[in-house]
Amino acid sequence: MSFDFTTFPVLETERLTLRALSLDDAKAVFGLRANKEVNEFIQRDAPKNLAQTRGYIDSVINLIDNNQGILWVLQSKSSEELLGTIGLRNFDIADNYAEIGYEIHPDYQERGYMTEAMEKVIAYGFEQMNLNTIEAFTHKNNIASITLLDNQDFLLQTDREDENVEDNRIYKLSK
Ligand SMILES: CC(C)(COP(=O)(O)OP(=O)(O)OC[C@H]1O[C@@H](n2cnc3c(N)ncnc32)[C@H](O)[C@@H]1OP(=O)(O)O)[C@@H](O)C(=O)NCCC(=O)NCCS
Repeated sequence: MSFDFTTFPVLETERLTLRALSLDDAKAVFGLRANKEVNEFIQRDAPKNLAQTRGYIDSVINLIDNNQGILWVLQSKSSEELLGTIGLRNFDIADNYAEIGYEIHPDYQERGYMTEAMEKVIAYGFEQMNLNTIEAFTHKNNIASITLLDNQDFLLQTDREDENVEDNRIYKLSK
């Protein structure tokens, strides 16, 4: 199995267009990735400015160009605003495996947007990419993320630990 994102797979849901990230998104992506609430349970260096955000966007574009990951922007169909992102990465080609990551700005949380996006991305992963397994690594106190994963039938892996982040829990969804 290998992936080919040369033609970016734009996906549609009822209220969202899931599209590719571009440098034009830098301001909105900075607002998302520098947001304290968004980062509460995520271990990463928040961008300090637009230049660092552009560096991040370049790295994502490069990852997709090399078919090593994919990230969609959640764009509102009604306002055309960037609400958040969702992506698949850390592929294990031999095992048809990918990890899922997602974030949405607090202004748009708890309105079902990520549920809508995740359902579409899971279907794309299983049906178009032919994945067998999708996993999420999420902080044990991240109730919103855990509820989202529970609702999509991800199962907590009680016998495994995230080697990198002790307080993370691993959730697994099989095809
Ligand atoms: C996790 C996250 C993506 C959820 O996005 P969202 O669009 O608000 O999720 P939805 O509106 O689709 O809700 C999904 C479920 O979670 C529940 N939920 C969402 N936010 C919640 C909160 N703050 N507290 C409790 N439950 C919450 C919703 O009620 C819904 O469950 P239900 O349908 O059974 O009622 C969002 O909270 C977020 O971006 N958090 C910060 C970034 C992050 O932690 N990402 C995950 C890293 S692993």
